[in-house]
Amino acid sequence: MVEAFAVASGKGGTGKTTSTLALGMALAEEYDVTVIDADTGMANLLFHAGLDDADVTLHDLLIADRDAAVEDAVYDRFGMSVVPCGTSLTAFEAADPKRLRDVVAELAAGTDVLLLDSPAALGSKSAVLPIVLADRIVVVLQPTVPSLSDGLKVQEYAHSYGTETAGVVFNRVRDDEDVDQIADQAGRYFGGQTLASVPESDAVRAARRSGEPLLAHAPDDPAADAFREAAARLDVRDGDEHDVAERFRSAVVPERV
Ligand SMILES: Nc1ncnc2c1ncn2[C@@H]1O[C@H](COP(=O)(O)OP(=O)(O)OP(=O)(O)O)[C@@H](O)[C@H]1O
Ligand SMILES: [Mg+2]
Repeated sequence: MVEAFAVASGKGGTGKTTSTLALGMALAEEYDVTVIDADTGMANLLFHAGLDDADVTLHDLLIADRDAAVEDAVYDRFGMSVVPCGTSLTAFEAADPKRLRDVVAELAAGTDVLLLDSPAALGSKSAVLPIVLADRIVVVLQPTVPSLSDGLKVQEYAHSYGTETAGVVFNRVRDDEDVDQIADQAGRYFGGQTLASVPESDAVRAARRSGEPLLAHAPDDPAADAFREAAARLDVRDGDEHDVAERFRSAVVPERV
C-alpha cells in the first residue's frame, strides 16, 4: 500500500517543513514513512532533520550525469526514511525536475506513506510537480484570511490535476486568534477538514535550531500533540504501489516558467 501527500502552502514560511517531519514522525508509529524534500530550489528539510552534512541528496538523483542510486540519498532518521535535498544553487539549476517522477515512483514502491515537502509558490515546473504527483495535499496555513486565499489557489491548482485535499493544518495559532471562525470559513471553502490548530510555540523554533523534528525534540509540547492529532485524522489510504509508481512515472509535467 502507499499514499503520497504533498505538504503545501501558498506563501513561504507557513510551517510546511516543520509539519512534514511532525506528521511523518506521528505516522511512523503505524506506517512505514518516507519523507522527501521536494522543495528543490529552497531546500531546508536537511536543517530540520540533522542532515546538513548528508553526502548524497535528492539533487544528485535529479542531475543526469551524477549517476547516484536512489537508496544512496535515503537516510534512516527518527523512525522514517528521509530524502534530503542539497542547498546549492548550481545543483538546483543543473537538476531536471522531471526526474523527480522516477525517484518518487521508486520510493513509492517500498513505503506506506510518502510525504513531499513542497515549494511554496506555484510559479515554476519544479514547484508544481509535488502537487501534481501527490494523491492528496495537506495545506499548511496561518489562520488569517489572506493565508486562506493563498491556500485556496493551491487547492484549485491541485484539483485541476486530480489531487484531492486531505485537510488544512492551521499553524502558529496565537491565543488571541479566533481560529474557529477561520476554520469555519476554511471548511466552507476547502471542503476539506481542519486537521489541527498548531499553537505558536517556542519548542518548534528550538527544535529547528537543534536540528531535530519537533516530535523528537519536544514530544510533550502542545504543538506536538496537535500534529499527532492531525496525523490521526489523515486516514491514510492504501493505494496499490504499482499503480501509484506507474502514475508517477507517466505524469505529465506541466509547462510553466
Ligand atoms: N508552530 C510554530 N511555532 C513557532 N515557530 C514555528 C511554528 N511553525 C513553524 N515555526 C518556525 O517558522 C519558521 C518556518 O517554518 P518552516 O521552515 O517549517 O516553514 P516552511 O513553510 O517550510 O518554509 P519555506 O516556505 O521557507 O520552506 C521556522 O523557523 C520554524 O521554526
Ligand atoms: Mg520548507
